[in-house]
Amino acid sequence: MRVVLLGPPGVGKGTQGRRVAAEKGWALISTGEILRDAVARGTPLGREAQRRMDHGLLVADDVMIGLVRERTAEPDAAHGFVLDGFPRTVPQADALEHELTGRGQSLNAVISLTVSEAGLVRRLTARRECPVCQRAYNLESAPPRDGRHCDDHPGVELVQRADDTEETVRRRLEVYREQTAPLVEYYRSRGQLNEVSGEGTMDAVHRRLLQALGCRTASE
Ligand code: AP5
Ligand code: MG
Repeated sequence: MRVVLLGPPGVGKGTQGRRVAAEKGWALISTGEILRDAVARGTPLGREAQRRMDHGLLVADDVMIGLVRERTAEPDAAHGFVLDGFPRTVPQADALEHELTGRGQSLNAVISLTVSEAGLVRRLTARRECPVCQRAYNLESAPPRDGRHCDDHPGVELVQRADDTEETVRRRLEVYREQTAPLVEYYRSRGQLNEVSGEGTMDAVHRRLLQALGCRTASE
């Protein structure tokens, strides 16, 4: 299955995408994580992306389109993939459709996750992650067992993303409203959009997501 997870910063795309992809054996393609990895390795892409990301701005469409074109063609994506954070602009959505059509494929689902704006800011400023496995934690809703270190990597201290300061979070939300929110209408008008509430516990959101994808829940 080929799935797009659409939604504002902090709505739970990474949390839900990672879980559903692991359960179903689909590739998780998170453009934010690919860029952060490039930043950490100091590649030319990373150096270019860092300036934009640190200011809460989007990286250029042609760079992102090329990156996703290559990543979705890798063998682990053949059985399905979850796109977390792509497309983010209309040109990216057009390019994705064009690329998949050229391969005789199409998207099976576009899930738009929603959470109130106050909830997004609260979630993002309390977010922490493991620098080794990128497991997401939240000091309020999903703290690690000892309050500081990754549950799966004892001794590894959790870190805060550079763009999770309140000022940059607000900028990212503005950028979302201006450049990404139009994709909700884009996919709705094509009859591909499925809105799923991202409110409530992570388990509750996961169950709603599986239902929207037409998958059975683990307890069934
Ligand atoms: P990206 O990494 O994609 O950031 P984002 O879209 O701003 O989204 P986030 O990762 O902040 O939030 P999320 O929805 O994944 O939420 P999460 O699951 O972590 O992109 C970063 C940057 O890269 C962009 O700003 C841009 O510069 C660049 N970029 C990336 N893709 C691009 C593209 N296609 N084009 C151009 N530029 C691009 O959850 C958030 C927190 O809430 C966590 O702490 C989590 O534990 C907690 N949480 C999750 N679910 C719940 C719940 N149900 N209840 C309570 N807490 C919860
Ligand atoms: Mg994310």
